[in-house]
Amino acid sequence: MTSPNSPSSSPYPEGSAAFPHRHLTGMAKLQPWEIRFLLDEAEHWVEMNRKQIEKRDDRLHGLTIINAFFENSTRTLLSFEIAGKRLGADVVNMHAAQSSVKKGETLIDTAMTLNAMRADAIVIRHASSGAVQLIADKVDCPVLNAGDGRHEHPTQALLDALTIRRRKGHIEGQIVAICGDILHSRVARSNIIALSTLGAQVRVVGPPTLIPKDIELMGATPFTDMDAGIKDADVVMMLRLQNERMDGAFIPSPREYHMLYGLTPQRLEKAKPDALVMHPGPMNRGVEIVSSIADDPERSAVTEQVEMGVAVRMACLDVLTRKRRGVEGWQ
Ligand code: CP
Repeated sequence: MTSPNSPSSSPYPEGSAAFPHRHLTGMAKLQPWEIRFLLDEAEHWVEMNRKQIEKRDDRLHGLTIINAFFENSTRTLLSFEIAGKRLGADVVNMHAAQSSVKKGETLIDTAMTLNAMRADAIVIRHASSGAVQLIADKVDCPVLNAGDGRHEHPTQALLDALTIRRRKGHIEGQIVAICGDILHSRVARSNIIALSTLGAQVRVVGPPTLIPKDIELMGATPFTDMDAGIKDADVVMMLRLQNERMDGAFIPSPREYHMLYGLTPQRLEKAKPDALVMHPGPMNRGVEIVSSIADDPERSAVTEQVEMGVAVRMACLDVLTRKRRGVEGWQ
């Protein structure tokens, strides 16, 4: 097999699976070329999505995708639904608030129920870290993690990587400052893994109470001073305070937090002049970011991130169902 790092006409290892995984539960399990493969696949869908409706592709026709969301979502749920429908699949959404989970049904029983319905892919969001892997181990079809607790949000990291690659041309060597509540953020965790795997220099910036103690082991450099953390950054990725996951007081007040860690035009001047501002959403305007930056199309990639989310999820649904669809040469 050709080394993925050796010169070759293909960017992927010769004769092997570009994506040999049954599920997408996190970025931690992926090799650099596997991440690049998903990004390359997504590029195709970005272009297709910008074309006329009649040019679209029904390759998932006849497949049933279940979106099982045990936590609230706007972007991830809708973009998985749109992604599946654009590829011709039947998409069913299960909202925990209206399901038998409210009657005391366990996660495993719910998973086995979805499995018995013979879904072709299940997309899961859950408040508990590890819940998605638990379900993936029990069901017969591919499972895609749409965010599990503080653990991982792999399609968010993929859409962020795609946004950076398209705006900056490449990811390797980019200085990416991820700022805010790192401790409770699955977005931060998946992005640290994905972007450092792809060769970016990743910094995390926030109050000491919101930075995990072992963050350097994950390949990120911690900063507690915002100005120092974003100095000369190519990308400034802002995160909201995940109040729903906090079991105590992690910051003195939102006002003080904004003074120390909010992204303002003055503070952004510390980053590179062409620094890209990102936010996975939902934003808390006036807390971690001010509107004049969030809404500035020259600096902010927020809406582009949402657009990339549909393309990335189309790529993931396509790639993960190839074996079920009998697509030759996928491995
Ligand atoms: N970025 C993200 O996961 O947003 P939603 O919670 O709206 O899905």
